[in-house]
Amino acid sequence: MTVKWTILIILFLVTGAVLVQACKKSGDAGAQANPISFDIPAGWPAPHYNFSGNPLTQQGFELGRKLFYDGRLSKDGNFPCASCHQQFAAFSTFDHPLSHGFGDQFTTRNAPGLYNIAWQPLTHWDGGIANLEVQPLAPLTAPNEMAEDLNNVLSKLKADGNYPSLFKAAFGDENITSQRMLWALTQFVGAMISADSKYDRVKKGAANFTADEQTGYALFQSKCSSCHTEPLFTDNSFRNTGIPVDPTIKDYGRMHITRQPADSLRFKVPSLRNVAVTAPYGHDGRFLSMSQVMEHYNSGVQNGPTTDPLVKNGIPLTINDKFYLLAFLRTLTDSTFIKDSRFSQP
Ligand code: HEC
Ligand code: HEC
Repeated sequence: MTVKWTILIILFLVTGAVLVQACKKSGDAGAQANPISFDIPAGWPAPHYNFSGNPLTQQGFELGRKLFYDGRLSKDGNFPCASCHQQFAAFSTFDHPLSHGFGDQFTTRNAPGLYNIAWQPLTHWDGGIANLEVQPLAPLTAPNEMAEDLNNVLSKLKADGNYPSLFKAAFGDENITSQRMLWALTQFVGAMISADSKYDRVKKGAANFTADEQTGYALFQSKCSSCHTEPLFTDNSFRNTGIPVDPTIKDYGRMHITRQPADSLRFKVPSLRNVAVTAPYGHDGRFLSMSQVMEHYNSGVQNGPTTDPLVKNGIPLTINDKFYLLAFLRTLTDSTFIKDSRFSQP
């Protein structure tokens, strides 16, 4: 090879490397920010959101946590994300079918727990949000939730004594932009992994089910896991489980997004991890207990054109079946996660 060619090739490689560096800017991690690793639990599939465009860092995560707990993201200061997503309830709203929002209003759906969100291709009960990074815009601007305007939020953050330096630590300079705010919130919410329940320890060989839990697990695998599929306890599909529509809320679920009659009354299969602490249940929180949900499958399924074939004839459950299933479902509570100080109010 001639010297000329060698030089050309070297030039080409150097330019290429510079270009690759330039394109990598997407997540814009601050020069000093310390990366945190996002560890996929053993045996789990690859997450849907993988932080490649929004590198997970300690500073980005901490900024996201501060924002998550900050009332100033809402119009009257009273409704931070955390007002509806409470850690001890696995970030669902404790004990409320619907959540309080701005101006004495309520949400129309039950607030889901937040954990393993990075594995969800579509969030919200109707799958209406396909990009985790834009998800916070929905509660932020909804008149019955935080009722704020993005520009107002940014002005409040810019006027604050601390935020400019926190944005600098996370993203390299003091510019406070909506994109960076959304990245930081996504780092916090996306990094919430719940994978340390008794069930997980049993799977790792570090604990044993009791006889009741084991019987419940076998029942679960035969009657429930086609939809609540392990290890995430959801197959991320949308199904109509025969829950009659609430005549006042008139929520037709997935059909609101796709406009397809075939999607009428289909809702996302919720994960059942931490289910014992996320009562009440169902997309509108109409079931007060896990037993009520089971009784629905046993005797309450209302058939319609879109009712899922798996529940069309109900799922027969005896009193004993319910007892064993409850024992198993309680093994899905991850006390490490709901007490993890990394996710608590700073
Ligand atoms: C007023 C109560 C309320 C506030 C405040 C709130 N949320 Fe929610 N959140 C909900 C409800 C209700 C849902 C379900 C919405 C739906 O399915 O249509 C939800 C859904 C979500 C989801 C999707 C979960 C899933 O499994 O589909 C995420 C993520 C989320 N919220 C994060 C946030 C963040 C981040 C904030 C703050 C920027 C926030 N929420 C503020 C009530 C609230
Ligand atoms: C055909 C799929 C399917 C099967 C089979 C199924 N589920 Fe569900 N499950 C769902 C869907 C979808 C929802 C949400 C329903 C809604 O609110 O519209 C749900 C909701 C739940 C909830 C409420 C969770 C929450 O956070 O609100 C529990 C508990 C539950 N199911 C337990 C079970 C058990 C136990 C079995 C087996 C006996 C079972 N499911 C079988 C699809 C299924």
